[in-house]
Amino acid sequence: MYTEKVMDHFQNPRNVGEMKNADAVGEVGSIACGDIMRIYLKVDENDIITDVSFKTFGCAAAVASSSVMTELVKGKSIDEAMRITKKDISDTLGGLPAPKVHCSILATEALEEAIKNYQAK
Ligand code: FES
Repeated sequence: MYTEKVMDHFQNPRNVGEMKNADAVGEVGSIACGDIMRIYLKVDENDIITDVSFKTFGCAAAVASSSVMTELVKGKSIDEAMRITKKDISDTLGGLPAPKVHCSILATEALEEAIKNYQAK
């Protein structure tokens, strides 16, 4: 059901955990399954994301999606991060089964919320 890449990111998630002194936090709940995702961002004075981490009460696909999302986002500008789509996440993971696509949406929506939170400051 899952690609090797999904299994790797699920079993060894990158950048997992709460971040102390985050510059922005975004949290969303999935309408599809009720799971929750929280994203933390550390952003420098040039709007570059220097650190990112996540915490989720979600499934294997949600863990893998957010893990990959943190790798895609780190080092990028806020503008570049805003352009990351669920397709970028799914493609990087080598694809997600159709019933699990909403899990990658959870990662992009939480990122979007974190960016909004940063921009509102
Ligand atoms: Fe809820 Fe995947 S089933 S995030």
